[in-house]
Amino acid sequence: MAGYRIDKVHALITGASSGLGVEFARQLARRSVAMTLVARREAELLQTRDLILGINPAVRVTICVADIATDAGRAAVVSNVGLAESKVTVLINNAGLGDYGRFDKADPGKISQQIDVNVTALTLLTREIIPVMARPGGIVNVSSLAGTLFMPELAVYAATKAYVTSFSEALSIELSPSGISVTAVCPGPTPTNFSKTARRENGEDTNRSGQGVLKQPPERVVRDALASLEAGRAVIYPGAPVALASWIFRVVPRFLLRLIMGRRMKST
Ligand SMILES: NC(=O)c1ccc[n+]([C@@H]2O[C@H](COP(=O)([O-])OP(=O)(O)OC[C@H]3O[C@@H](n4cnc5c(N)ncnc54)[C@H](OP(=O)(O)O)[C@@H]3O)[C@@H](O)[C@H]2O)c1
Repeated sequence: MAGYRIDKVHALITGASSGLGVEFARQLARRSVAMTLVARREAELLQTRDLILGINPAVRVTICVADIATDAGRAAVVSNVGLAESKVTVLINNAGLGDYGRFDKADPGKISQQIDVNVTALTLLTREIIPVMARPGGIVNVSSLAGTLFMPELAVYAATKAYVTSFSEALSIELSPSGISVTAVCPGPTPTNFSKTARRENGEDTNRSGQGVLKQPPERVVRDALASLEAGRAVIYPGAPVALASWIFRVVPRFLLRLIMGRRMKST
């Protein structure tokens, strides 16, 4: 697939108030003429805007406070983009959340949130933005290493990310002839606010220790994601340990993985 050269772009970033979204904004700042930052928390979005302007005061930054889990929130994003001086050239579908713990004890509201943000918002926003995007253009969908593997006690999250990776690979083929490159980035554990949001307030969440070897900094994840978009790679697992783990999860027979995952669950 042909890649997309990131230069003088208008980047639309969801989840730009924290973690990987802030890092995407930071790394794109010097390569952007405009940026639209989306999340629910306005104060944090304003901090991201200040960060971008500190790096490159010439960027036209638009803040869009929206809950993209809702139709109204997504409509606000689309209308914001419609009013912008320049067309969006790069869409970063980054907003997302998880939930640590057993499915049968999960808060139904948090189950819906994961599906609404990780799957529905990513899909429908992409559908709305493609027709108004400039050509050539690029889309980065933030998936997860968890998307390669069924994960007990992270079941809904892992399933949503399997969707994101599959959806992105299909889109990368469909959209390539029309000049839009698509990359799914599948990070392993990355220090952001993700764990804080995924934890359960009643303390019954799962022990997630033992993942240190897979940990990659946000700088690395975003650098690899943007380089892969430029190189026309449909899927990237940032960092050698994460790439190796993803390979193992894809080649080991599923019955063996079920045994291993069952033992792991018993031991925690
Ligand atoms: N950190 C990891 O270990 C890891 C690993 C693999 C994949 N990922 C993926 O990386 C992406 C970014 O997560 P992160 O690690 O940077 O976590 P984070 O620090 O918790 O950031 C999540 C972002 O998503 C936004 N968001 C959540 N719900 C939203 C909604 N309804 N409407 C609008 N924005 C919403 C949050 O903004 P507001 O709260 O202000 O709305 C926040 O900016 C997610 O898709 C996550 O699944 C993370």
